[in-house]
Amino acid sequence: EKGGYDHFMLKEIFEQPQTIYDCLRGRLDAQAGTITMSGIQKYAEQISNANRIIIVACGTSWHAGLVAEYIFEELCRINVEVEYASEFRYRNPVINKGDVIIAISQSGETADTLVAIENAKAKGALILGVVNVVGSSIARISDAGAYTHAGPEIGVASTKAFTAQLAVLTMIALKIGYEKGTLDHDRYMQLLQELDAIPDKVTEVLRSKDNIQAIAEKYKDAKDALYLGRGYNFPVALEGALKLKEISYIHAEGYPAAEMKHGPIALVDEDLPVVFVATKDSYHEKVVSNMQEIKARKGKIIAVINEGDEQSSALAQDIITIPQADEIVAPMLSAIPMQLLAYYIGIAKGYDVDKPRNLAKSVTVE
Ligand code: M6R
Repeated sequence: EKGGYDHFMLKEIFEQPQTIYDCLRGRLDAQAGTITMSGIQKYAEQISNANRIIIVACGTSWHAGLVAEYIFEELCRINVEVEYASEFRYRNPVINKGDVIIAISQSGETADTLVAIENAKAKGALILGVVNVVGSSIARISDAGAYTHAGPEIGVASTKAFTAQLAVLTMIALKIGYEKGTLDHDRYMQLLQELDAIPDKVTEVLRSKDNIQAIAEKYKDAKDALYLGRGYNFPVALEGALKLKEISYIHAEGYPAAEMKHGPIALVDEDLPVVFVATKDSYHEKVVSNMQEIKARKGKIIAVINEGDEQSSALAQDIITIPQADEIVAPMLSAIPMQLLAYYIGIAKGYDVDKPRNLAKSVTVE
């Protein structure tokens, strides 16, 4: 049932070219320039006119929501807030009739996310679900939405569900941005091509597995790790730190790279691995200067970069190269080294990566 892989987590990481493809299939037609999503189409006008989109989720799904915040604001010019479902449901949030709520959940059964959207629905908000499990509670209570079609995710650490969530959310943003007119035709067509190319690029990223395993062996005894990124890659840094904590029990923190000067940089010494998610994008020069600051304090830099980025590779102890992609779609690639690094460190430490201690696959109690 693990299809020849040692663990479900590894199988699910390696399924990603297929799962992203499955998620795009039947929806994205990059040649024709169309995105077909019937659930979204029905409410497209309401979403376009929304004053605000509020994304509610937990854990990895919350990280996908953060990436979506950047994408929606850029392409649709709609104000987006991303909320931890547990906080949102208890704090008497301001919800107005024109607000659109997007709930993101792999299982569709996370208690806090479910109750958060029940409350928002009662206040008249439109609820869209981005859910993996068909017919799950969150899918049923949502007014509309789009399934991620990633297939069953068995490993407790979410992997393929995350990249499928990004694919769905990107398609929704492209569709709404184009219909609204905040995204022009050329850029829209270019981004459809970029999205279409992702499954093959994921296959390329997965070829780095032996390199990533070697890096994992080197750093497996670290006590702490820092993950840094900016812009679209900031949530990927958060996701990398979460994966490492869950699977290897190494204390890890993710930060926006510039925020490190406001505290975390005090942790940096020659024993601290610092993972930089530093692909070429509009933030790249800024990230490079953050790398210089870490190097100056003797931190050990592991950099996820694009092929040919000599400037970054000169600053890093270890590099993982991934194919170039537009910044809007790049997180679907940069997330994968995060998953593999956590996996191989967990394995090197002899842990049960499919069933990490103290964790349940879906958190159906608050
Ligand atoms: O099923 P959901 O997406 O609603 O689950 C949310 C979180 O519980 C989940 O992402 C959790 O953080 C994972 N263990 C992360 O790997």
